[in-house]
Amino acid sequence: MSGVVFPSGLRLEGLGRHHPRRRFQCGEEAVENWLATKALQHQEKHLSVTKVLVDADAGIAGYYTLATGQVDFGDLPSEVGRELPRRQLPVAILAWLGVDVVQQGRGLGRLLIAQALRDCWEAGKTFAFVAVILDCLNDAGKAFYVRWDFRELPGRPYRLFVSAKQLDKMMAGR
Ligand SMILES: CC(C)(COP(=O)(O)OP(=O)(O)OC[C@H]1O[C@@H](n2cnc3c(N)ncnc32)[C@H](O)[C@@H]1OP(=O)(O)O)[C@@H](O)C(=O)NCCC(=O)NCCS
Repeated sequence: MSGVVFPSGLRLEGLGRHHPRRRFQCGEEAVENWLATKALQHQEKHLSVTKVLVDADAGIAGYYTLATGQVDFGDLPSEVGRELPRRQLPVAILAWLGVDVVQQGRGLGRLLIAQALRDCWEAGKTFAFVAVILDCLNDAGKAFYVRWDFRELPGRPYRLFVSAKQLDKMMAGR
């Protein structure tokens, strides 16, 4: 997969104190509150990394947050888990993603997911993980991610994953 190209006038940056993170509105309070109150603090504590898509007026058009975590091998579908050791396994987490209401419907959400998955894949060359997982807030969010080959974890309808193998294929094919 070649690098993600954002529309002109938009650039992706690591979240900093100077970004107007309290002005971001995407229609989901939890996604807004995370950026406004937690994203920077968690980044400073090395718990997660947030990237913001900055527009020509220095506003935040969208963002995503990545983190790492663990799942038990038994939480994975058997076809993914069966070749893996029976213990806690490392995963990449697409923890948060949102696009400002004014910018929604222009394809930015799709581009941000593409970039977030690319970041995971690049990181996976150095720090291995067995899957990228995410928790959806609701059915609309789920519908958005299922288009990206994310599948449900067994018994966890709102926890979705893409295996590292699938990610490799995705990155090779796009
Ligand atoms: C979900 C969200 C990130 C989508 O951003 P966006 O920039 O509007 O999405 P895009 O324009 O890239 O749309 C990509 C595709 O997903 C579809 N889509 C967009 N929002 C959707 C939603 N809420 N539910 C289902 N499908 C959705 C679009 O129709 C589009 O389909 P197409 O490629 O066939 O045209 C954005 O609506 C948002 O920030 N919502 C609030 C926060 C949120 O729900 N985040 C996800 C957490 S679970």
